[in-house]
Amino acid sequence: MPEAKLSVLLSEQQIQDRIRQMAAQIDKDYTGSGPLYMVCVLKGAILFYSDLARAIKHPVRMDFIGTSSYGKGKTTSGEVRLTKDLDTTIEGFDVLIVEDILDSGVTLTYLIHVLQQRRPRSIRIATLLDKPERRLRPVAVDYVGFQIPDEFVVGYGLDYAEDYRQLRDVCILSE
Ligand code: IMP
Ligand code: MG
Repeated sequence: MPEAKLSVLLSEQQIQDRIRQMAAQIDKDYTGSGPLYMVCVLKGAILFYSDLARAIKHPVRMDFIGTSSYGKGKTTSGEVRLTKDLDTTIEGFDVLIVEDILDSGVTLTYLIHVLQQRRPRSIRIATLLDKPERRLRPVAVDYVGFQIPDEFVVGYGLDYAEDYRQLRDVCILSE
């Protein structure tokens, strides 16, 4: 691996505090509704997803979906494909898509399109990070953890060529 420098952008504490606030908002918004179908977008969202799910008190159900567009680079190829589909039906359920980061918006635009065809009761989106400067497709996000500058970040599930996912903080990666 080439020489890489990591600097903390969001600490574990900041992330956990924000997740608690997001979960409280989600609990409030879904009061009185049935179970919330939390869809984890693999693999980057796994840590955010599991912490968010545990902070939510409303009953949730869990399922996982896989997409790929990035390959080994740092920018989107503009093409998204499903690498793993849900195991269960979402028809009639409130769905919360849980993403690690909203960048160009290509991935979420595609996922919303795919899941909408399955007739859920509603679809909302929770993303830990949002890089608004890089948007190519507008996406309406319901729950955003942090807006961040246009830097490449790793950790807390996010990778660079599959490395760094296990870091507890979100760090800026510079080479
Ligand atoms: P989008 O389709 O361009 O919005 O990209 C979304 C996906 O790109 C995310 O789910 C991440 O997997 C990946 N991604 C975008 N920016 C970063 C980054 O700064 N670090 C790591 N992965 C990123
Ligand atoms: Mg992702």
